[in-house]
Amino acid sequence: MQDGLRRLREEALGKVEGAATLDALEQVRAACLGRHGALKEIMGRLAEVQPEERRATGQLANEVKAAIQAALVARREFIERVAALSAMATEDITVPGLRRPMGTEHPLRRAEAELREVFARLGFDVAEGPEVELEYYNFEALNIPAEHPSHDSFETFYIEGDVLLRSHTSPVQIRVMEQQQPPIRVVVPGRVFRPDTADATHSPVFHQIEGLVVGEDVTFADLKAVLTMAMRELFGPQTETRFRPSFFPFTEPSAEVDVCCELGGERRWLELLGAGMVHPKVFEAVGYDPERYTGFAFGMGIDRVALLKYGIPDIRLLLEDDLRFLEQF
Ligand code: FA5
Repeated sequence: MQDGLRRLREEALGKVEGAATLDALEQVRAACLGRHGALKEIMGRLAEVQPEERRATGQLANEVKAAIQAALVARREFIERVAALSAMATEDITVPGLRRPMGTEHPLRRAEAELREVFARLGFDVAEGPEVELEYYNFEALNIPAEHPSHDSFETFYIEGDVLLRSHTSPVQIRVMEQQQPPIRVVVPGRVFRPDTADATHSPVFHQIEGLVVGEDVTFADLKAVLTMAMRELFGPQTETRFRPSFFPFTEPSAEVDVCCELGGERRWLELLGAGMVHPKVFEAVGYDPERYTGFAFGMGIDRVALLKYGIPDIRLLLEDDLRFLEQF
């Protein structure tokens, strides 16, 4: 009977090793250790064993059972590990990765980049200034006294006290002139804010590019030449521009410049910028001698340039982040 037990151990361990799946392993377990399994069957014959051998036989039976159980546990772990590994292997690492959809350049950024380029070719440097600005730079230094009615034409979001969101890029003129001596030739692109009601050509958040040229013999003819050239560079050599007399407290004389264009299927003049000769009061505010220096300045709406260049019918599309619109660029 002890031989039978040893044989069972040998066979059982062999079968355990041969089981390739958890189901097969369970069958081996039931056949060896189950209620109707081989071990039970052998032990059922214990009564036939000589009484003096029973103890040793019982002990051997326990050892055989423990050995088979240990082998079953080890084999179960092995089968599970193999299953986990092969599940990983079903991910074919040679399949090309998922491509993230590429964005495109926003039409506003593109218009700004083109403007920077055009003015760089005309010899302009680039300067920048803060979007959160002091009243002094947005108004007073630009010859717009607090009580003056022209204050209203640059309607403004105030933050607190004399801190506001700049309503134009002109305050950077002052910041540049405080830092540098003439000759000056800079453009200043940036975001500006006004409580304007949104429509096809107005937005409460929009972008301007300011220009400032200061030197000893700068004239209105230079202003006209630079702006006419810039418009032709931007919109093509046939571009028609119109200079209308206008008023800004920080320039004298002043003009507004329109470009002839087709917008929303209709041919019309669109106002693109304000401009003029720097007012002597502005030079005084930054300590320049107005007898010695003259200069011109302009402020152009970048959003409107984008409308014209890319045939966009409504300025609000630029800030809505609608992919159906953006993907067209
Ligand atoms: C100014 O902001 C002056 N600082 C421009 C200037 C600079 C004049 C230097 C003289 C010397 P104005 O408010 O007209 O001016 O605005 C200039 C341009 O910004 C407009 O011609 C237009 O193209 C654009 N713009 C004005 N308001 C809006 C708006 N709500 N939405 C989109 N673009 C606007």
